[in-house]
Amino acid sequence: MSIDYSEKIPNNVNLNDDRRLQRALEKWQPGYLQWWNELGPDNSTSYDVYLRTAVSVDAKGWAHFDHVKMPDYRWGIFLAPVEGERVINFGQHKGEPVWQDVPGEYRAELRRLIVTQGDTEPASVEQQRLLGKTCPSLYDLRNLFQVNVEEGRHLWAMVYLLHAHFGRDGREEAEAMLERHSGDLDKPRILQAFNEKTPDWLAFFMFTYFQDRDGKYQLASLAESGFDPLARSCRFMLTEEAHHMFVGESGVSRVVQRTCELMNENKTDNARTAGGIDLQTIQKYINFHFSICLDLFGQELSTNAANYYTQGLKGRFLETRIDDDHLLADAAYQVPEIKGDEVVFTDASALNAINERLRNDYIQDSQRGMDRWNKIIRDAGIDFELTLPHRSFNRGIGTFADVHFTPEGQKISGEEFEARKVEWLPTDEDFAYVSSLMVAVTEPGKMANWVAAPKRGINNQPIDFEYVRFN
Ligand SMILES: [Fe+2]
Ligand SMILES: [Fe+2]
Repeated sequence: MSIDYSEKIPNNVNLNDDRRLQRALEKWQPGYLQWWNELGPDNSTSYDVYLRTAVSVDAKGWAHFDHVKMPDYRWGIFLAPVEGERVINFGQHKGEPVWQDVPGEYRAELRRLIVTQGDTEPASVEQQRLLGKTCPSLYDLRNLFQVNVEEGRHLWAMVYLLHAHFGRDGREEAEAMLERHSGDLDKPRILQAFNEKTPDWLAFFMFTYFQDRDGKYQLASLAESGFDPLARSCRFMLTEEAHHMFVGESGVSRVVQRTCELMNENKTDNARTAGGIDLQTIQKYINFHFSICLDLFGQELSTNAANYYTQGLKGRFLETRIDDDHLLADAAYQVPEIKGDEVVFTDASALNAINERLRNDYIQDSQRGMDRWNKIIRDAGIDFELTLPHRSFNRGIGTFADVHFTPEGQKISGEEFEARKVEWLPTDEDFAYVSSLMVAVTEPGKMANWVAAPKRGINNQPIDFEYVRFN
């Protein structure tokens, strides 16, 4: 299958037939490229990067790998194919055919959902902007850039929906996506986890494990939407998200692996003495990323989420595999509550608890990588276990927002939290130490000392393949 890199906006939405839309997107494109050059991967425009590019949306369409300059990446608009006669599977419109156009009465809600999702995509590119300077290997550098170009494409996917279906306010929202910036004091990104820094590669691996996994769950619930163009956009984005999470899970695995090797080779409990990242610091990074990601799911009880569900705009994770009436009018779901010093779970309306259910799906899924990382530690004969902190730890939104808990879920005072948080969250000193290990390794096949080599290369290439050429 060949690729036409000259096509201005690659797409499978018949853009050629819609001149007005095509012109609108072509008008947005230069601003996008300018944003990429200013806030995308630092100093990278001349690099040739071994990228995977979608040439079509079927399974084979992913098979295309080549060295590409990132600004020439096929930023395009791809929706998963129409699935016969899809119907809405939940809420008050259950059983009705899906909508190809935005229903007037849900316009504001749909726009808000699309903008909130879309805003995270360029945010993550901004957050990861400087990491290329300190890549632990060419293999890792290539993976970073692959993630970055795909997040850029995810922005395109959401901007397409705004342009195609929301008229003038859609175009304004698309402009605003390039005006808000991660961490900007005046115009920050919408969600707080996307304003945090990603200062080093351990943070990057945690980000792609935890934040991109939040993305998976949000996209999966939007993939259930009765608004079919949104559902189909998200279904295609999910195929890309899988790679991002692979980068995170395998990245942390390789750090844990290397840490254990260094501990055993040097007969020490503290990998720092051997130039590695100690397990305690890895745990602190987990505590941080997991807790800020739990906030991304919103309040435990939310009438907004209930409305989105009833209106057929945003479903649950794998909605059609759930065995219930998909209306939830009388159903109950357990949500956490603080009673005295205890966290207890009490029945609430399942409809209002949609966010909480998605958060629980996410927590369960997050545990899987932990189990794999712990197996590496056990197999190395080391007595240490990485754990997800309790849902009450370090939270900024919902039931646990203004109270303090230990990672084990024990309620403590604000003073005690302040005094002990150095035990649980990365300190300036921890960040400085991890930063001190971040030196670029760009010789093909070589790895930084703090991370093990991957098991295999990308697309069956050897690990010492020249994944990035600097020119
Ligand atoms: Fe994304
Ligand atoms: Fe992602």
